[in-house]
Order: sequence, then C-alpha cells, then structure tokens
Amino acid sequence: MSQPYVIDQMISAKTIAARIEDLSREISGEFADTRKLVVVGLLRGSFVFIADLVRELELPVEVDFLEVSSYGDGMESSREVRILKDLRGGIEGRDVLVVEDIVDTGHTLAHVTRLLKSRNPARLCSIALLDKPSRREVDFRADHIGFEIPDEFVVGYGIDYAQRNRNLPFIGKVRFV
Ligand code: IMP
Ligand code: MG
Repeated sequence: MSQPYVIDQMISAKTIAARIEDLSREISGEFADTRKLVVVGLLRGSFVFIADLVRELELPVEVDFLEVSSYGDGMESSREVRILKDLRGGIEGRDVLVVEDIVDTGHTLAHVTRLLKSRNPARLCSIALLDKPSRREVDFRADHIGFEIPDEFVVGYGIDYAQRNRNLPFIGKVRFV
C-alpha cells in the first residue's frame, strides 16, 4: 500500500493556459518558415500539454508520439532510458519539436534528443512544461520551458504519481500526510 497523501495546488489551470499562449507564440515565430512541423509528444506525461499546445500553434503540424521508459511506479528516475514505442513516421530532413512534461535529472530528454538527432532532422527543438533545475544530473536544458519549479514531486495536467492524478486540470505537489 502506498502512503496517504494530499495534493496542494502549485500552478492553476488558468496560469498554465496563459503560459501556453506565450510558448505557442514563441514557437510559431521560430518555425514560421517550416512547411510542416513534426510535434513529438513523449508519452504518457505530455498528452495534455501537447493537446493544448498544438491547438495554439499557428503552423501546419503533424503529431507523433514516442514512449520511453522512466519511473515505473516510484518517485526516482531509473536513469536508464529504453524505447517502449517508437515514432510512426521518419523525421529525416524535417523540423521537429519534442514535447516533454518535466525535465528532472535530464536523462530522458538528453537521451531522446541524442536519439532523434541521429535520425538527421533538419532542426530539432525541445519544450518542457516544467523544469526542476536543482535536480539535474546531466547538462541538458530544453529550448523552451513553461515553468521552473523547486524540487517537489508534482502531479496533474497529464503528470502522474503511480499512474494516478493525470486528469487533474492543474499542477499540484504531492504531500504525504
Ligand atoms: P528525468 O529523466 O529525470 O529528467 O525524468 C523525466 C521524467 O520523469 C519525466 O518525463 C516525468 O515522467 C518523470 N518525472 C520527473 N519529475 C516528476 C514529478 O515530479 N512527477 C511525476 N513525474 C516526474
Ligand atoms: Mg515523462
């Protein structure tokens, strides 16, 4: 049995929506000359973020998904990244935006970036809704970041704790009671 916990709101749905409008403007500007941007969501945590983000982008986009292994049901990074589900489409010569929920130790996005670069995209950019810079173990920074947050375990807006709480409309921190 897991320990009981409560969730304290950290970032409201309204604040997230406003930030996504800014991020979309940045990205639409940056890729304004792109014929069709390939937006790659990392499953499963990014599914809500990518849905809101692509609807704000004023660009032709294609959406694809990649699933890599991460935490299992715990709170610690496994540090070992394996592909569980690969992209459906090729990205050679394409402009690609990788969408992640959180950059924590940095292992996941650093690995995914290396992997996708090896497929020779024309351009590869990354965006993460949340960043916990104090937890970094590898030198990696996403090109676009929604919010920097302290070292707290968070849930909601697609992000889970042991597969729960992804459906919360806000970001909250887990507090054990
Ligand atoms: P990293 O490889 O340590 O950067 O971990 C990134 C992945 O760990 C993210 O894609 C999340 O799935 C997961 N993760 C990191 N921090 C949290 C958190 O606070 N709550 C839930 N999942 C997290
Ligand atoms: Mg994840």
